Amino acid sequence: MKRALIVTGGGDCPGLNAVIRAVVKRASQEKDWEVLGSIQAFNGVLWEPTEVKILTPDLVRGIHFQGGTIIETTNKGGPFAWPVKNNDGTYSAVDRSDEMIRKIKYMGIDAVINIGGDGSQRISQALYEKGLNVIGVPKTIDNDLSSTDSTFGFQTAVEIATEAVDKLVTTAASHNRVLVVEVMGRYAGWIALNAAVAGGAEVCLIPEFPYDINIVKEKLEARFSRGRGFAVVVVSEGAKPIGGEMVFEKSNEVGYENLRLGGISHQLIRQLKSIGFEPDMRETVLGHLQRGGIPIAYDRVLSAQFGVKAFEMALAGDYGKMVAYRHPYFVSVPLSEAIAQPNLVTLDNALVKTAKGLGISLGF
Ligand code: F6P
Repeated sequence: MKRALIVTGGGDCPGLNAVIRAVVKRASQEKDWEVLGSIQAFNGVLWEPTEVKILTPDLVRGIHFQGGTIIETTNKGGPFAWPVKNNDGTYSAVDRSDEMIRKIKYMGIDAVINIGGDGSQRISQALYEKGLNVIGVPKTIDNDLSSTDSTFGFQTAVEIATEAVDKLVTTAASHNRVLVVEVMGRYAGWIALNAAVAGGAEVCLIPEFPYDINIVKEKLEARFSRGRGFAVVVVSEGAKPIGGEMVFEKSNEVGYENLRLGGISHQLIRQLKSIGFEPDMRETVLGHLQRGGIPIAYDRVLSAQFGVKAFEMALAGDYGKMVAYRHPYFVSVPLSEAIAQPNLVTLDNALVKTAKGLGISLGF
């Protein structure tokens, strides 16, 4: 019997279960393969006792439209930085990757399918370099992985953010206010830019283009005449003013290495007030609402395609690669290429041109 081990790592994302189901369903067409799932990314393998479960077609039946991941996930620690408590109560990060690879091989696993974002795919590449048969699947609502036209989960997040803009437009108009909605995306402005275009926002601020607060003020003032008017601003959590910093907090959660972004919408309102912008303003932070719940049909389809292709890569022994969508094909690209540089919004991007063509201010 051959075995594939599925791992879901990093922040959760709509479509994870649809990928898991697709891998299991495709594998069930082969007589000599079974699929296992490690609980909470690689923790399930690293824990003693091990927490790995057999993923049968029965177990994954109907999960394609469930949010989250049935095998859980984590964005803390991992095989290369396993947190160990010292005598003085502090934690040190220990590299347990060799031990984990031995354990995975001892478990008779032929292929590891690691479904995750850039951090997870860096782990995939490092494990591959150490001799593990890894295949990556690009997951993230941020859409910040290059080498693929799109990651799964992203379009669902855009849908949720757009729905929020639609709702905020009506309350903004009723109250003659500026409503600022803060969306996720980390260092990439894709969710913000797509939601701003789809929802018809007046201003969209993203991390790639630091904003000039006076330009934002001018744009918003043009929407008001004799105190009446309204506007919606979409701001990405990683946006920052020219010469300024992103708004973040360092986390004290053990093993959590990311910056916790958040609060730019509040800061933007304070900045606008401080330079004399008078209309009322309110902020809405969408946060994890963008990651929870059911994937839209587009993401279910994309996840299914990624899952089937990932298993077929295992069948072909095509390791050290990530599944990538390059319309209209699903191809495999070296993990090293997939993590080489992030997918960020650039000035020459077609959607940036469209946003400008619609009169959306990008703050510069
Ligand atoms: O990378 C996905 C993402 O949702 C980002 O958009 C966000 O900054 C981050 O994860 C939040 O992660 P956490 O689950 O640690 O709050």
